[in-house]
Amino acid sequence: MSNLLIKNGEIITASQRYTADILCEDGTIVAIGKDLDAPPDVETYDAAGKYVFPGFIDPHTHVHLPFMGTYAKDTYETATISALCGGTTTLIDFVIPGQDEAPLSAIDTWRGQAEGNAASDYTWHMAVTRYDDEVQSQLREIVSSGIASFKVFLAYRGALGIDDKQLFHTMKLAKELGVIVTAHCENPDMVAELQKELLAAGKTGPQWHEPSRPVSVEAEGTRHLCTMSELTGAHCYVVHLSCEDALRQAVEAKFRGVNVYVETLIQHLLLDKSYAERPDFEGANFVMSPPLREVSNQEPLWEGFRHGMVSTLGSDHAPFDTTQKKMGKDDFTLIPNGIPSLEDRVRMFYTHGVETGRIDLHRFVDAASTAAAKIFGLFPKKGTIQLGSDADLVVYDPEHRDVISAKTHHMNIDYNPFEGFDVHGRCDLVTVRGNVQVRDGEFVGTKGIGRLLKREPTHF
Ligand code: URP
Ligand code: ZN
Ligand code: ZN
Repeated sequence: MSNLLIKNGEIITASQRYTADILCEDGTIVAIGKDLDAPPDVETYDAAGKYVFPGFIDPHTHVHLPFMGTYAKDTYETATISALCGGTTTLIDFVIPGQDEAPLSAIDTWRGQAEGNAASDYTWHMAVTRYDDEVQSQLREIVSSGIASFKVFLAYRGALGIDDKQLFHTMKLAKELGVIVTAHCENPDMVAELQKELLAAGKTGPQWHEPSRPVSVEAEGTRHLCTMSELTGAHCYVVHLSCEDALRQAVEAKFRGVNVYVETLIQHLLLDKSYAERPDFEGANFVMSPPLREVSNQEPLWEGFRHGMVSTLGSDHAPFDTTQKKMGKDDFTLIPNGIPSLEDRVRMFYTHGVETGRIDLHRFVDAASTAAAKIFGLFPKKGTIQLGSDADLVVYDPEHRDVISAKTHHMNIDYNPFEGFDVHGRCDLVTVRGNVQVRDGEFVGTKGIGRLLKREPTHF
């Protein structure tokens, strides 16, 4: 492990902004101050004129994802390298058992994918796709082993989704164990009926995906989760919230005292439903759930960040390439759902959030790093810059200019949803526990050093 002295950078955390040097030894931050002397055998990096951010945390990725009859394209190696090039030093992936599979067997599968391959640190949310005595006892074991959050799908009934009885018991267990329940909130029966109606009317293209899952369906799902949270006392977290109506449900629940957190995605902030209406089936590249919405939903989501109603920004990275998307060429319900954005999440958020004045630098760091660390039990080892924190750091050059393209990205996918978008800033140096993994936006580090992070329950 290399030791490192980062000099003269402008340190930005969720609450502080100052210029100082940072000394990293044996993977942690051991000194922060002005004019620190370099001990022997330490690399010195001059960050003058640049920001130094805590490593960013993506709270929602699907690196290994068996879904809709296929698998998402990235591996732990390609995903974490892409993440690092974009400043993300920790990702939280979802372990998703098949409905007849034991949770511990799914953990083994994900471990097999990640161990020795990940170039950044990672942890997992444990999906509950069935609830019975066997699952209950294995979930207890999984939580004691350091995987301290659950995931439920209110959508995808018959594939990954659970019914209300199972949801109720999952949330009771979560309350007892002190773990938070993250949830995909869409009413599955409404979606199934609307899909049937649209297909029967000959509406088979990707542009019909959004009408099959309108905002009312997501708002209903969000309210539903909050009601379950209210009944059981479990803390909950709405993943990939896409629209104003669903946000209103979450905010109303917050007023009632429900412990609900909201995550939105960079896709929902910057892309709208017209992308899924692109001709010649290109729209399929923009099919995800909840869908891209009317553009009028975007400003309320930014407003949500400004006023603390939205806590975190995720990517919901779920890369299915253009060949896989063609599985739904005659029927939009068969298009694998997902849009890749792991690599570009942070820089697009900076460009369209900070540079436009929609959010300040502190809110930016909070939403893309610190809040996730706090909600998911990683703080203060991750998510901030302070003595004793892991030396996960991003030196960011805000003057750099770039254009997003699939030709230059590192993700294992043949398109980029932000193709041609200007981006402000580059990750000039990215470290994981003091190891320099990225220089000038390119991976230069060591594959396989990523660790599975253990977390304690914090949501009693
Ligand atoms: O469309 C999406 N979001 N695909 C990934 C799986 C999920 O629902 O998060
Ligand atoms: Zn989802
Ligand atoms: Zn997801």
